[in-house]
Amino acid sequence: MNLILMGLPGAGKGTQAEKINEKYHIPHISTGDMFRLAIKEGTDLGKKAKEYMDQGELVPDEVTIGIVKERLGKDDCKNGFLLDGFPRTIAQAEALQSLLADLKESIDYVLHVDVPEEKLVERLTGRRICPNCGATYHVIYNPPKQEGICDKDGSELIQREDDQADTVKKRLEVNMKQTQPLLDFYQEKGYLVTVDGDQEIDQVFQDIQAKIEK
Ligand code: AP5
Ligand code: ZN
Repeated sequence: MNLILMGLPGAGKGTQAEKINEKYHIPHISTGDMFRLAIKEGTDLGKKAKEYMDQGELVPDEVTIGIVKERLGKDDCKNGFLLDGFPRTIAQAEALQSLLADLKESIDYVLHVDVPEEKLVERLTGRRICPNCGATYHVIYNPPKQEGICDKDGSELIQREDDQADTVKKRLEVNMKQTQPLLDFYQEKGYLVTVDGDQEIDQVFQDIQAKIEK
């Protein structure tokens, strides 16, 4: 199954991707995670991406398309993949179409996790992540068993740098501009499925399963 998860920052893409990955065992490809890893490792890609991410701006298309192209070409994507946070511009969506045509693959569903804008700031500023395993928590909506500590490996949770209030505002602004044209693009192709993301995390996942197992 070849899936794309779309949604504004904080809609719950990463949270649902973890669940989809656990249940369906398809590789979770998050461009945001790939950039964060590159930043942590201090690579040239990381240095470049950081300039944009810290400002809440999108990383340039040619950089982003390049890393996705490399990743989708790997063997573990032959039995399906889950793209999270890509594509985010029409240029990226078009590049993906031609890349998939080359690989003789196609998209099964584009899952749009839809959450009203006014809920997103609270979700983002309350998010905490595990620097070791990448697990995502929320101080109110999805707290770890022990405050500030990852359930999976006991690491101390941190806040993402781009989850500071100012950067959050900018990210929402930038992404809101890009989203509608992309939704139209996939609606026209018949791939788009909208899921109400303004529900409990498990309910959102149940809805996703109902849509993709239909
Ligand atoms: P990226 O890492 O993709 O960030 P994002 O799109 O801004 O999305 P988030 O990870 O912030 O949110 P999410 O939807 O995954 O929400 P989550 O599940 O964590 O990108 C970061 C940056 O990288 C971009 O700004 C850009 O610079 C660059 N980049 C990445 N991809 C790019 C691309 N294709 N092109 C160009 N640049 C790119 O949930 C959020 C919080 O809410 C958590 O605390 C969670 O516990 C909680 N939560 C989740 N679901 C629920 C629920 N149902 N109810 C209550 N709380 C919930
Ligand atoms: Zn962890």
